[in-house]
Amino acid sequence: MSSYSVRVYGDPVLKQIAREVDEVDGSLVRLVDDMVETMYGSEGAGLAAPQVGVQKRLFVYDVGEGPEAVINPTIVESEGEWYHDEGCLSIPGLRLGIVRPDRVHLRGYDLDGEEITIEADEFLGRVFQHEVDHLDGVLMIERLEDDMRKQALRVLRDRALGMDTSAMEAKLVSAGSEQEV
Ligand code: NI
Repeated sequence: MSSYSVRVYGDPVLKQIAREVDEVDGSLVRLVDDMVETMYGSEGAGLAAPQVGVQKRLFVYDVGEGPEAVINPTIVESEGEWYHDEGCLSIPGLRLGIVRPDRVHLRGYDLDGEEITIEADEFLGRVFQHEVDHLDGVLMIERLEDDMRKQALRVLRDRALGMDTSAMEAKLVSAGSEQEV
């Protein structure tokens, strides 16, 4: 196995829509292994293929029960509303309080090409939504309300200029510090 470097905010690959996977072959299995290693190396709980520069619709995750991969995932149902902190390996160190549905029904395929469906809530449901967004070229910042999004973008701009943004960041996050995804 080998590790990728994680693409970060500003890399155009993170804004593109990934393509469906049409075949599970040896190279896809190796990609999944390498993504899992990259996720662990970054201490993340989830990682989508575009985050390592690969435009395929798949992601890996581990919320404490071992690594899993989902190919061609879609969220077929969602319900509720949950405000929770969220972090992204591609926007390191920035925790944002974001509202999303609290329960989702994910459908996709495993590495044997078998269809899988998973009902998830709380953090796992959040990971699924965040990763599917990555496959559509959507970053968590775009899930913020307008004024909060402006503040988050300002944090990223100021950071790039080497400024201390901790006071501004404190206004953007809820309590808690989930793993980045
Ligand atoms: Ni992310």
